[in-house]
Amino acid sequence: MYVQPADAPKRKPVTVPGLRAMKKRGEKIVVLTCYDASFAAHIEAGGVDVALVGDSVGMVVQGHSSTLPVTLDQMVYHTSLVARGLAATLLIADLPFMQFRDPATALAAAGRLMAEGGAAMVKLEGGSDWICEVIAALAAHDIPVCAHLGLTPQSVHKMGGYRMQGKGGDAAAHLRDRARAVVAAGAELLVLESIPAALAAEITRDLPIPTIGIGAGAECDGQVLVCYDMLGITPGHRPKFSKDFLAGRGSVRDAILAYADDVRAARFPGSEQIAG
Ligand code: KIV
Repeated sequence: MYVQPADAPKRKPVTVPGLRAMKKRGEKIVVLTCYDASFAAHIEAGGVDVALVGDSVGMVVQGHSSTLPVTLDQMVYHTSLVARGLAATLLIADLPFMQFRDPATALAAAGRLMAEGGAAMVKLEGGSDWICEVIAALAAHDIPVCAHLGLTPQSVHKMGGYRMQGKGGDAAAHLRDRARAVVAAGAELLVLESIPAALAAEITRDLPIPTIGIGAGAECDGQVLVCYDMLGITPGHRPKFSKDFLAGRGSVRDAILAYADDVRAARFPGSEQIAG
């Protein structure tokens, strides 16, 4: 059993209904990706609201050029590592590529991420009608769902690269429509990735559930970053929407605290990180 550091502040557990309450109160939701118990302990001590075991693990930990090779077994494994480092932080795990291709497959995969991995919610990419059917099936089994729209990395080949989505009237209207559709299907949370800030703000105002932005401007209800991007240690190019919070600070813990403070005070993302 992982033992929390003695200096970890005690706080009330973050819950799924609690996220909606945060939106109502206008409190920003702080989210970071996480893949192991040690980093999870820093996230916990840093007061982050939600830890996301993203399938970005395939790129930033495994070194693949996309998230497609990540398996369900690997996601269950990483989710269980992170769960051991957390106490009050809510844990979300990604359903990997092809593991939500129909309701039965999604239910089996989500069941493993929750029962074996310890996740409280699962995330899946996309918002087409068949994905809404999958969301509805998960929600009907009391499995909380985080939807993910905009740049959906599992669709990299269809998109022709990691490009901003929702630009132009038709694309924006489609995203607005799909955002409503995933909510109607039962999603409790929505990640908006790499879409114009004004569109993300509009969707955020329109929906009863919280939105979490990454490269989607400052007006989402919360923000998420890949932890290695936020520490400035991802090799190669750092996304423009990210920021190195370790620069000028002495520890990972201080970097996480600064990120959480900046999200809560709406200082992050700033104008340098916002495109579109
Ligand atoms: O896989 C991931 O880490 C994600 C976040 C970047 C939102 O989906």
